[in-house]
Amino acid sequence: MHLPEYQPDQRRLYLSPSILAADFWNLSDAVTAVQADADALHIDVMDGIFVPSISYGFPIIEALKRHHYPLPLDVHLMIEDASRYIRTFAEAGADMLTVHAEACVHLQRTLAEIRACGMAAAVCLNPATPLHVLEEVLPYIDMVLIMSVNPGFGGQTFLDTTLEKITRLRQWLDRTPYPIHIEVDGGITTANIAQVCEAGADVVVAGSAVFGSGQPAESLRKMRARCER
Ligand code: DX5
Ligand code: ZN
Repeated sequence: MHLPEYQPDQRRLYLSPSILAADFWNLSDAVTAVQADADALHIDVMDGIFVPSISYGFPIIEALKRHHYPLPLDVHLMIEDASRYIRTFAEAGADMLTVHAEACVHLQRTLAEIRACGMAAAVCLNPATPLHVLEEVLPYIDMVLIMSVNPGFGGQTFLDTTLEKITRLRQWLDRTPYPIHIEVDGGITTANIAQVCEAGADVVVAGSAVFGSGQPAESLRKMRARCER
């Protein structure tokens, strides 16, 4: 189960709350609280090498699937050499798999493997990585994930320079035949989500602003309302 294919003339907002900011003691309550107002669940996998932190991996994805969690699992790999694990993530239950361009030597092959395993394929770019690294892989991707903070931690401040990068990417993609979503991740709140959507993002990740708010469902509804105005 993926997000519907990107449709330029019927753009809508998909919200993908990140469980990195959830209370792990009550993880099932946290994911249940967002399921009616979110479109996907964002799962940040960190290896302590590509990024400084170590987060979580297969067992969380497997548990969500075992308990029939109804939303697509949007898995963001912040790991070196992701190609070693593509099949294992598919078997665990990932629906959308994002790899970092900076961490994949054979990026095209990795993306093709992700699709061959039945998942939606996405490439993520760090704030300092230019858009042109995507040029040769556009036919192989369903989504681009633009980092609006340097990856590794939740709760960081949104980098405003990202807005112009999103605008440029949307304009470029619109001139290609490929239906590619733009996801944005890091520092997104009810205060800046409208700008992120106006710039051209249609999939938005938020961790602290959702799970740190004490009212996750309400925060998602507010975010959606800000973009639909
Ligand atoms: C950062 C992660 C993000 C993070 C977002 O490395 O990729 O998905 O959970 O958290 P906030 O929304 O708090 O910036
Ligand atoms: Zn993420």
